[in-house]
Amino acid sequence: MYGMVNKAIKELVTEQFGADKWDNIKLKANAPDDFVGFQSYDDSITYNLVGAAVEVLEIPAEKILNAFGEYWVLKIAAQSYNDLMTSTGTGFVSFLENIDGMHSRIKATMPDLNPPSFRVKKITDTKIQIDYFSSRAGLLPFVEGLLSGLGTYYNQKFTLTHIPKSENPLPSERMQLEFI
Ligand code: HEM
Repeated sequence: MYGMVNKAIKELVTEQFGADKWDNIKLKANAPDDFVGFQSYDDSITYNLVGAAVEVLEIPAEKILNAFGEYWVLKIAAQSYNDLMTSTGTGFVSFLENIDGMHSRIKATMPDLNPPSFRVKKITDTKIQIDYFSSRAGLLPFVEGLLSGLGTYYNQKFTLTHIPKSENPLPSERMQLEFI
């Protein structure tokens, strides 16, 4: 993944747990102290950072990924990529419908980007279904954190239900969101 992702993990850890914890995590993960935002790094670095954070912070991976998703939207995207955020959608659902387009636009400046894909289907006025497609494993808790961050960003509360693989014919992670 691009360095900006690993950089954001460093920022989250340093802000919320302190620089000492980051030092321990990067050593355990065998990772450099800092990253070049627009340089592509092997995915194993990101996974190792999360694995090391689980051990050092004694927090389960799901919770770390979830917190990282919220942090990515509310701190990284909202603050550093606000133009991109506002041009992608005007509300929670329109934003989700346009995420693939947003990542495609980023690809112009980040040719090695391997983004996920989201398919959004309206079921009723208050219910949508989201299919999350990715070539990477284990990032569903990150997506849940991203959605939760977007909920805060757009002031849209919802409950999230996972649809079991047995009820989903697509190679995606399927979720349904009911707006409150
Ligand atoms: C507006 C600022 C955003 C930027 C600059 C951005 C950029 C990126 C970058 C660089 C990656 C790493 C992929 C790679 O290096 O191959 C990534 C991954 C990802 N992005 Fe975004 N993104 C943004 C917003 C979002 C939002 C709001 C979502 C919400 C759904 C999202 C969903 C994801 C997911 C789920 C991944 C993990 C990759 C995977 O699942 O395979 N991104 N994004």
